Amino acid sequence: MSEESHDKRITLRDLRRWASGGEPFAMLTCYDATTAKWLYRGGLRTVLVGDTAAQFILGHDSTLPAPMPFMLEITRAVRRGAPKALIVADMPFGSYQCGADEAMRHAVAFIKDAGADLVKLEVDETHAALVERMSHAGVPVMAHLGSRPQQVRATGGYKAAGRSRREADLIVDTAELMIARGVSALLLEAVPDEVSKRVVQIARGREDGEPIPVIGCGAGPACHGHVVVLHDLLKLSDWQPPFAPPAIDMGNQVQAAAAAWVRAVSRGEYQRGGGAYHMNPPVTPTRAGKTGEPTRPGVV
Ligand code: KIV
Repeated sequence: MSEESHDKRITLRDLRRWASGGEPFAMLTCYDATTAKWLYRGGLRTVLVGDTAAQFILGHDSTLPAPMPFMLEITRAVRRGAPKALIVADMPFGSYQCGADEAMRHAVAFIKDAGADLVKLEVDETHAALVERMSHAGVPVMAHLGSRPQQVRATGGYKAAGRSRREADLIVDTAELMIARGVSALLLEAVPDEVSKRVVQIARGREDGEPIPVIGCGAGPACHGHVVVLHDLLKLSDWQPPFAPPAIDMGNQVQAAAAAWVRAVSRGEYQRGGGAYHMNPPVTPTRAGKTGEPTRPGVV
C-alpha cells in the first residue's frame, strides 16, 4: 500500500483546526490530474481549481471566458489526481450571476459531480442571500473578497484592493456579512496587511467555535492559509506578481528540454542505435509438437 493511501481525506474540519491552532497552510492552483498527483506527493493538501485556468490552460487574457463544463471537467481531473486533498472549485464568471436557481445548480454540480469540497465565488454584499442559500443547502462556500478579477471589465484593469479607509472598511464589512450568512472560508486577494488582520480578527469565531479559515492571495502574513497561482510558483508565467516569488524556473527548464529534443531529432541522434521495439523471435516447435520458449526471453 502506498504512503498516500494511509492518509485520510482532508476536510473543512482540518482547515478549521489548522486555523485555530495557528498552523499556516499552503494552497496552490491546479488544473489537471498529473500535476495534482505530484503536488500532493510534495505535501500539498489543499488545492484551488481556479478560473485562472482560462489564462494558464486555455490562453485567454482574463479569467472571464472560463467555461462551466471545462471547469467541471478539470475539477474532476484534479480530484482523480489527488483523491484525498481538499479541493476548492472556482465558479466561473456567468455561472452564478444569472439567477439564484442556476447558480445553485452549478454550485451543486461542483460538489456532487466534480468532487469539490467547496465552491469559491467572488462576492460583494449583493451575494449575501445566494451565499446563505448555498451554505444552507450543504454547499460550502469560500467568499473571495479584495481584488476580484471577474470585475475586470467593470473596473478597467487589475489592482490591489482595500488601500483606502473606505475600501478597507467595505471589505471588512462584507467579510462580516458573509460570515453571518454562513460562509465556510474567506479568500482575500491583493489587500494590505491591515485589512487581512482585521478580517482574521472577525473570523475568529465565538468562544466555543473555531475560526472561519482566511486564505490570502497576496494578503499578508496574518491569513491562516496562503495561495498562489501554480504557474507563478513554477515561473511558467511571463509576468510575476510581487507576492508570488518563483520556487523554480520551470519555464526555462521546459524551454531547454524542448531545445534538446529538437536538436537530438534534427541531428539524427535520436534512436540512432535502433528503436525500442523488436520483432517477435521465431517460435521453435518441440518434439512433442508443442511450441517452445522464445529465443529471447524477457522481451515483450
Ligand atoms: O482563479 C484563481 O486562480 C484565483 C486565485 C488567484 C486566488 O482565484
